Amino acid sequence: MLNVDEVKKAISEDLKLAENEAQLSEFWKKCLGKGGTIQGLMNGIKQVAKEEKKAYGQTVNEIKNWAQALYDEKKEEIEKQALLKKYEKETIDVTLPVKMRPMGNLHPLTAVKHEMMNVFAGMGFEIFEGPEIEDDDHNFTRLNVLKDHPSRDMQDTFWLTEDLLLRTHTSPGQIRVMDAQKPPIKVLVPGKVFRSDSDATHSPMFSQMEGLVVDKHITLCDLQGMLDEFVKNMFSDAAKTRLRPSYFPFTEPSVEVDVSCFKCGGKGCSLCKGTGWIEVLGGGVVNNKVLENCGIDSSEYSGLAFGIGIERIAMLKYGINHMGKLFENDIDFLKQFKA
Ligand code: DAH
Repeated sequence: MLNVDEVKKAISEDLKLAENEAQLSEFWKKCLGKGGTIQGLMNGIKQVAKEEKKAYGQTVNEIKNWAQALYDEKKEEIEKQALLKKYEKETIDVTLPVKMRPMGNLHPLTAVKHEMMNVFAGMGFEIFEGPEIEDDDHNFTRLNVLKDHPSRDMQDTFWLTEDLLLRTHTSPGQIRVMDAQKPPIKVLVPGKVFRSDSDATHSPMFSQMEGLVVDKHITLCDLQGMLDEFVKNMFSDAAKTRLRPSYFPFTEPSVEVDVSCFKCGGKGCSLCKGTGWIEVLGGGVVNNKVLENCGIDSSEYSGLAFGIGIERIAMLKYGINHMGKLFENDIDFLKQFKA
């Protein structure tokens, strides 16, 4: 007959040897799995006398349940230990000093661009961004830049095909907005522009911000009022603007806008080359031809437009004397512009 104590003892000894999940699973196979010890005992029932079969079966079953319970208990224990080990490994020392990462800052051009957009957003301007690859029609023709205008020259403009080019200014944004929207219009078009030009104050790629307002009764006074507000916000409360006559094909009249020198207050210094004034942008009243080119009735509506060089504003504001500095990614230079 079956020696229960001996069987249980052997099983217990075996289980004691299992120290991790892999060994425990080996134990389960050997004891409780198919072809394992318990199954072997079950099979032994064939040799047991008929009248003892029932008692034998019950005993084996009892051993099986006992072994299973023992196994379950051990499994729980091993899992608990594994978890504790994992927690131990994952412990973090909250008293360790933090590895400090230096805080970055916006590129001065980006910061100035944001500042400019904020000032104009305060006056109700919306932002529009046009494509950097333009066609002749948007970049020149509909802006009233005639076929023989020097800015169309191969030497000045990066032509891609006979018709396509890298936009030379953000002014084509005016055409795109007037094509898409009916007046009243009040938009800003910031973006990169490209010209075949390179020296201390010019770069083949630079950025502009175009402004366009179209409504009934818009005049040059509105332009001066807005730009006055702009320079006060960007440079100093004491800054004033001055308009000088100029020429752009897309505006009539056209003006060059100067700001009173914010370094010397207008007395004359090296920044303003002794004149007391610094040129900051171009603008004017939108040429009727341009309005008509966009299907806007110039007897009912008028507009103002301006184009500001963002690098120029950044250079003036921060006293940077070489435009290349803004594109070199010299980290020591850029670090100085922490807000
Ligand atoms: N597009 C001109 C340039 O790149 C700047 C400009 C002048 C824009 C007068 C305007 C404007 O909208 O009215 O030099």
